[in-house]
Amino acid sequence: MKRLIVLVISIAVISVIGVILQNDREEPATTTEHDTVKLPEPEKESATSIEEALLGRRSIRAYRDDPLTLAEVSQLLWAAQGITAHWGGRTAPSAGATYPLEVYLVAGNVNELPGGIYKYNPVKHELVKLVEGDKRAELCDAALGQRCVEEGAIAIVFSAVYERTTGRYGDRGVRYVHMEVGHAAQNVYLQAVSLNLGTVVVGAFYDDEVKRVINMPEEERPLYIMPVGRV
Ligand SMILES: Cc1cc2nc3c(=O)[nH]c(=O)nc-3n(C[C@H](O)[C@H](O)[C@H](O)COP(=O)(O)O)c2cc1C
Repeated sequence: MKRLIVLVISIAVISVIGVILQNDREEPATTTEHDTVKLPEPEKESATSIEEALLGRRSIRAYRDDPLTLAEVSQLLWAAQGITAHWGGRTAPSAGATYPLEVYLVAGNVNELPGGIYKYNPVKHELVKLVEGDKRAELCDAALGQRCVEEGAIAIVFSAVYERTTGRYGDRGVRYVHMEVGHAAQNVYLQAVSLNLGTVVVGAFYDDEVKRVINMPEEERPLYIMPVGRV
């Protein structure tokens, strides 16, 4: 009888360990190391003064067909929404620190980075791969065929989850979200000047088409596309 009890307990313990190991293996694909790209640490100093960046800021829609480096991409994304305070504060202000913005990278011509669509994770300063392949031409179609969207080495796409801000501020939160994307986009403009790159904010596009190309979650709405390239 004793033997039988020991046998039953042993089988139960082995089964529980098996279930734990099985669950460990079933992590979602987006959290595996394969699908994330650690970005280089962004620079905190440059030879360009803020006055020079303001003076040089211009909308540029024609680019050379040369690749960007991963360090430049890292710098631009950090300028857009990078974390700059231990409590989570970012490079751009946010009403009530509700942070409604999401940032995507549509990569086409970047050294050390395969073409694809990536989501920027500001907390880890890394990219999460969503879609494989160069999607600049499709994004260009979604933006009424504006050639700059296809010709930039990359495009940065801003979207927003309005609910994060309207949940606290009601309808007024809508205007806060729109102000906020303006802050973030201006950061990218100024950072581009400092890196000797060209960019432009593109607001004319079909929302549904951009969402489809990017594979955006239902609750997000696209707000700006910023192609970036060498000038
Ligand atoms: C809300 C908004 C939407 C814009 N949308 C587009 C656009 O779809 N395509 C484009 O080429 N430029 C777009 N622009 C850029 C403006 O054309 C540009 O800022 C303006 O001509 C002034 O030039 P500057 O940015 O060089 O000072 C947009 C600008 C803003 C503020």
